[in-house]
Formats: sequence, C-alpha cells, structure tokens
Amino acid sequence: MPSLRDAVRGRILFGGDYNPEQWPEEVWEDDVRLMKEAGVNSVTLGVFSWARIEPRPGAREFGWLDRLMDLMHSHGIGVVLATPTASPPPWMGARHPETLPRAEDGSIVWYGSRQQFCASSPVYRRYAAALTEDLAARYAGHPALTMWHINNEYCTHCWCDETAAHFRRWLHERYRTLDALNEAWGTAFWSQRYDAWPEILPPRKAQYMKNPAQVLDFKRFTSDALKECYTAERDIVARHTPDIPVTTNFMPLWSGQDAWAWSAEEDVVSVDIYPDPRDAWGGQYNAMIADMTRSQAAGPWMLMEQAAGAVNWRPVNRPKPEGLNRLWSLQAVARGADAVCYFQWRQSRQGSEKFHSGMLGHAGEHGRAFRETRRLGAELAAIGPAVSGAGVSARVAVLHDWDAWWAGAQEGLPSALLDYAEVIRHWHRALWESGTATDFARPDADLGGYAVVVVPHLYLLDDAAIDNLVAYVRGGGRLVCGFFSGVADRDDRIRPGGMDARLRELFGIGILHEWWPLEADEAVECDGFRGTLWSEELEAAEDAEVLATYRDGELAGLPAVLRRGRATYVSTLPEPAALRSLLAGVVREAGVEPVLAGLPEGVEAVRRGELLFLLHHRREMVTVAVPGTYEDLLTGRSVVDRIALGRYGVAVLRSTAP
Ligand code: GLA
Repeated sequence: MPSLRDAVRGRILFGGDYNPEQWPEEVWEDDVRLMKEAGVNSVTLGVFSWARIEPRPGAREFGWLDRLMDLMHSHGIGVVLATPTASPPPWMGARHPETLPRAEDGSIVWYGSRQQFCASSPVYRRYAAALTEDLAARYAGHPALTMWHINNEYCTHCWCDETAAHFRRWLHERYRTLDALNEAWGTAFWSQRYDAWPEILPPRKAQYMKNPAQVLDFKRFTSDALKECYTAERDIVARHTPDIPVTTNFMPLWSGQDAWAWSAEEDVVSVDIYPDPRDAWGGQYNAMIADMTRSQAAGPWMLMEQAAGAVNWRPVNRPKPEGLNRLWSLQAVARGADAVCYFQWRQSRQGSEKFHSGMLGHAGEHGRAFRETRRLGAELAAIGPAVSGAGVSARVAVLHDWDAWWAGAQEGLPSALLDYAEVIRHWHRALWESGTATDFARPDADLGGYAVVVVPHLYLLDDAAIDNLVAYVRGGGRLVCGFFSGVADRDDRIRPGGMDARLRELFGIGILHEWWPLEADEAVECDGFRGTLWSEELEAAEDAEVLATYRDGELAGLPAVLRRGRATYVSTLPEPAALRSLLAGVVREAGVEPVLAGLPEGVEAVRRGELLFLLHHRREMVTVAVPGTYEDLLTGRSVVDRIALGRYGVAVLRSTAP
C-alpha cells in the first residue's frame, strides 16, 4: 500500500492548491520562479478544472495540463493531481438537471457556485468516472505525479427522488425487512408506520419535528453515499497507478462525513484547517484538529489547506498577524503533519475567493504574505529530514464518534444549546492547557494502550462501545466521562433508566432522575467550581465517591462529579480551569507526565520523534526552562537549559547530550 511517506520522501511537503487556469500562461513562468524561491515542492492541480478539461460533454482538453505537469517536473515540483469532480460544469446541470441536488424543501440547488451534484446520481457518477479514467490513464507514469486528490471536501446533501431510491436500497441492506425498520425508527410514534418500501423518503421538509431515527440514518447514508463516490474514483486511479497514494481532503470536525470510516479508505489522511486568527484559542483549535487527523491517519498526516492570511467566508475576515501562519504551520508539524499546504498558491483576482489570501498575495513578491511564505519554506526544508515520518505518542485519548454527534444534534432534545463540537473542544482545551499529549479514538477502538480515556459527550453508544469502555476500566484504565453520555442505543432509543445500566454501575450512579440543562448565561455553583450548559439530577450508588456536589439551585446537595474506582462521571460542563485540574489530577494519578513541566502561560511543548517543539502562542517575551543541551534546528544555535521565545516564537530542539 502506498503511503504519505512515498510522496514525502524525507521532506515536508510545502505548497498548495494551484489554479493556473485562472491565469495567462506567462504568469505560470513567474509562478514557478517564485515557487522555487519559496521552497515549494508540491502543488495541487486540477481541483476545479472540470470545465477546462471537459468544456463540453465527452471533450478532453489536456494540453494545458500536460504543459503544467511538465513545467512542474522540470522544476522539481511534485503534483498532487485532483480529480476535478467537485464542481461539474454548467453543461451538466443544463443538460442533466437530475444531477443537481434538491434541498429539503424540494428546491433545486443550481450551478453557478460549486459542488452542485447529487451523490446518488448515476449520470454524475458516470461522467465523473469517465473523466477520472482518462485523467488517470493520461498521467499514470508522469514523473511529476506524487499523489491523487479525489474531489474536494465532499459535503453535498441531497433529498431528490434518486437519493430517495438510493436511501431505500441502503436501508434495505441495513434492516432487510420493513418490520425491522419500523421497529428501529419507532414508527409507532405519530402514526409513522411504513407499509411499503416506496413510501420511505429522505427526511424532507415537514410540518413539525422529523423522526430522529430516520434523520440519523439519513446522515449515515449521506456519508456512505459520498464515500461511494470517493471509492469509485479512488479505485480507478489506483488501478492505473497502484504505487501512488490517494487522499481526499476532510473539513475539520465536520459533521457531514464520518472521518473514521473514510480515513480507513485513504492512503493519506488530509485535512483543511482554518482557525480564526481573532480567536484567542485558535492555537488550541489547530492542535485539536491536528490530534484528530493524526489519530485518523494512525501516523503522519497532510495539512492540505490552510490560509496564509485572511479567509473570506467569516463575517469579518482579518489576516493572520505576522508570525501566526508560521506558528500554526510548525504546530501542525509538531503534531504529526508531514505536509504544510495552502489554499491557495496565488491569490485570485476574480471569482468568489478574490479576497481569500494566498501564499502569494495581491501585494506580490514584496508583500508580507510572500515574505512569510519564503521564510517558512526555508525552515521546513531545514527541519524536514529530522521530522518527516516521525511519530507523536500519547497516553491519553479523547473519544469522538459521528453516530453520537448525529444523534445528539437533533431537534427535540432537552437543550438546543448543546453543541457537540464545542463540548469536544472544551475538553480538549483542558488537556491542551495542561500540556498533555492527546490522541482521539473511536469508542469501539482498542483502548488498551491508553492510561486515560476521556469521553466529553457521547449521547449515543452502541452495545459494543459500552462493553469496550467497561472492559477498558476493568483492565486497569481510567475513564472520565462527561454528561448526557450513554443515553441512547444505536437506533437512538433511550436506554432504560436514561443511561445504560452498565455505565451507571461503572460510575456509581444509582438513579439518573432528570436532565437539567442550563440557559446560555446561567452557571451552577458546585464545590470549588462553576458548571455551565448542563446539570443532572443524580443519586449516587452507595459505593460511589462524590467528588463535588451542586451548591445552589434545585440540585443543591446532589452529586455533580462522582467516581467509582477508576471511572469518573462529570454531570455538568466545568469551567475551563476546573476541568483542567480535574483531568490533570486523573492524568497524574495514571502516571502520565506533561510533555514539559513548568512552562510559562501560552507556551506549548510537543514531542515528535526525538524532537521537542516549543510553540509560543502569545506576544510577550518569555523564557522557557528546558533542562539539557540541544540544537535548535530552526536557527542552528545551541540551547543550554533555557531558551527565550518572542512573539509567536518557535524552537525545534534536538538533544545534543551524548
Ligand atoms: C475550502 C476549499 C477551498 C477554498 C477554501 C477557502 O477549504 O477546499 O477550495 O474554497 O475552503 O477557505
């Protein structure tokens, strides 16, 4: 099986999406000159080139791409070649309107933007496969080709009739009989019983709340339907070039794609990360997505896209201040990335993204964006041989699961304020701030290698996952579990008692009487901290240890945090400092040390292979105590026992002790 290692070959890939079809050919020469100057060694070509390659049905215009592939090769720049199937040309929608997605209300999602395809459309799939076939045949064996990039950020949803038929086939595979489907969907409720398969529809616009089990299955189906599009194209390119690795780029912590299932189908796991430069916790977000992607890849991963400066899709789009692009890029490398790439190389002058930054911005080669690009390229080249391929090891895992997310993000819950992604982020932040190396894992994964497992919030847990957690604790592991977890089974049926009985026993919960969600601006006092978002009316089992009780409100005196042996349950969302110290306590008890003790506020330490990365997320000068003698690979200087870091400073230290 090919892997990222085959494309990387002892370096760090550096480059980005390159859209030369937007520019006259004279500019291409200038592009390669500047790419060389910046140390770019990889470009992603073709992502949105469908209309250029196939201007009318069945036509093939590869000449321009041939010239580009040759141009890149002659300058030693590798090409991540995309199948351009994310954005069908207007002719497809005009001639085959059935390829256009339908929204929940039946309205058509038109061409004129991008990603307007129905994943279930046989016509779309046929055209996509034919183009992929010809592209793969043409460039198989081209020396510039280093990787395949299938489609781009698969994310379409469709509720059309073709989708309905496909959904029914998917459901038939899953349930076999209508009785089983009716049972799983609880259709006795509101007279929703189905009498024949053709009656079943995707959950379209409805009068009132939709059947949650149907919505859950539709989310599972949509992820699978898109995955079929991906694997169909992957299989075509793999047939032509079995030694070239294949990827498709994920959106980070995005609910539309079960990235655990998808990453199992990829040679390279890649992701696009766009932290908000104005977010004081942007560095933590970047770290979290890096940890998640590394865990999906089970090793080095590819940062396929990030922005050199501003994006253009937030309400207010601020550029990254000087140094932040470098800091977040090196942070990704510290956390396992072997590729640092961007959307996009040269900033566009036309189209919807003309205000989105590029590695080479409108200001040109003398602008700050390009100056920073050049510096980073040189630094990545310097550290590449020492870093590339090295692993990051963690003894703490955060559990994350799409089924639980999908089921728990519906209408009709105790609170509409519960945001799965935000809860995950809150818990990861607590570990990040305490300097604990962290992986992510799925609930049914082998957890044996972890000293501590953390469940921020998994509303749905199937029987296998529950057995896995119970066995993990029995086997000596420490488990810390957040509120509203283990509530529903795989069909989104509430477990008797409101929470799985095995889990209640594990944590020492006698009775779970009620869920008590909190208002957005409400907090509940607990012993030693304030809880937000959620609280629960719990009764502890006799042998449970109550670590904190609620102090005010209706739940005063009842347990807020309780524990039985090595299993701890947290029935609210503690404020950050409290969650940090709670988790740090468990981590310490498990014998897991932070990467580096005694760090100044805002400094992150990460070990990758034999290297120690120090990353300073603030602007003031700090001194970091780092006992020993090292070489800083970024400066070549030697470091003895301490190092000063300025604004957004980074050091990559290799021990020189004999
Ligand atoms: C996504 C897409 C890119 C571009 C960027 C803009 O990541 O894949 O084509 O639109 O967003 O941030």
